[in-house]
Amino acid sequence: MRVAVVGATGAVGTIMLKLLERRSFPATEIVPFASARSAGKPLGTLVVQPLREDTVGGFDLALFSAGGATSREWAPRFAEAGALVVDNSSAWRMDDDVPLVVSEVNPDALDRIGKGIVANPNCTTMAVMLPAKALHDAFGLRAMVCTSFQAAGGAGQKGMDELAAQVDPVRGHDLVNDGARAAGAVQASVHAKTLAFNVVPWLGQDAGGGYSDEEMKLLNESRKILAIPGLEVAPTCVRVPVMVGHSIEVRATFERPVSVDEAMEAMRAFPNLELDDVPTPLEWAGRDEVCVGRVRADLFDERSLNFFVVGDNLLKGAALNTVQIAELLHQRGLVGARVA
Ligand code: A2P
Repeated sequence: MRVAVVGATGAVGTIMLKLLERRSFPATEIVPFASARSAGKPLGTLVVQPLREDTVGGFDLALFSAGGATSREWAPRFAEAGALVVDNSSAWRMDDDVPLVVSEVNPDALDRIGKGIVANPNCTTMAVMLPAKALHDAFGLRAMVCTSFQAAGGAGQKGMDELAAQVDPVRGHDLVNDGARAAGAVQASVHAKTLAFNVVPWLGQDAGGGYSDEEMKLLNESRKILAIPGLEVAPTCVRVPVMVGHSIEVRATFERPVSVDEAMEAMRAFPNLELDDVPTPLEWAGRDEVCVGRVRADLFDERSLNFFVVGDNLLKGAALNTVQIAELLHQRGLVGARVA
């Protein structure tokens, strides 16, 4: 099985390579791809390849995390040349012929791979989907208010680099009496505003109506993954000065009254979902599971439940789910079928 990893030098691609090895994915050959800038560079024992007509053929599987533009252009070329593509960008997620899969939540969507492309969900949506599915099966999910606390690493290596570089210059100013001057000490280019010692309630592109595209992903992707077309989601996405690990406060509303004990039971029984009293993203960075804590009955509505979700955005939120999808494709005998 020949496997291409596109975006192999990036924050997510690097972890994909590690996971393929750590989980003993049965690849006979792994070929890393990145931009022309990186072509020829060694990556461990491998050498980075450029994306070119003559380099993309003969793969059984291609795992993409190189941004939407690269996916839009090159995922179909890999697929035409016979590969199954698992794409971590937002480029194909809402395409009706492309399954959008969280491995524990809707693996059967892999039965309908129209274009040879499978999409990996947005990292914030991904973490919410595990408890949402566990609770939906128990109580019938109708609506969610989701407020995210998203790590710098959600914007890739450059997102983490920008945060790290801001810490010292911002700390050099009077953070108590003149925050505006401290914030102005650095130029933000990846994040919307200065992130060090701050919280930035905007990330992504303008999607109209005052919402960002990151926020609309929480609505649209949740509906598709959970197959609840009428699901109501009120999303607010916030960037916080955390390197890795997204958190989301969720108020979920159900068709039936919800008990905390039954909800905990349902979540405890769900695969790769952990419960902890007070989960924090720093403590969950580097862990495969999604964690839920602060599970509370709503103070006003017996059909609503409040809880806090934490997940490593680079692992389950991106690279791990991509590799889990690849494993499911392999287990289902779908890999190689296209080349044949
Ligand atoms: P490169 O390292 O050569 O720029 P991140 O999400 O951490 O920013 O990483 C993005 C990944 O996508 C990197 O591996 C990057 O390669 C790769 N990439 C960016 N632009 C392109 C492109 N036009 N073609 C192929 N790979 C790209």
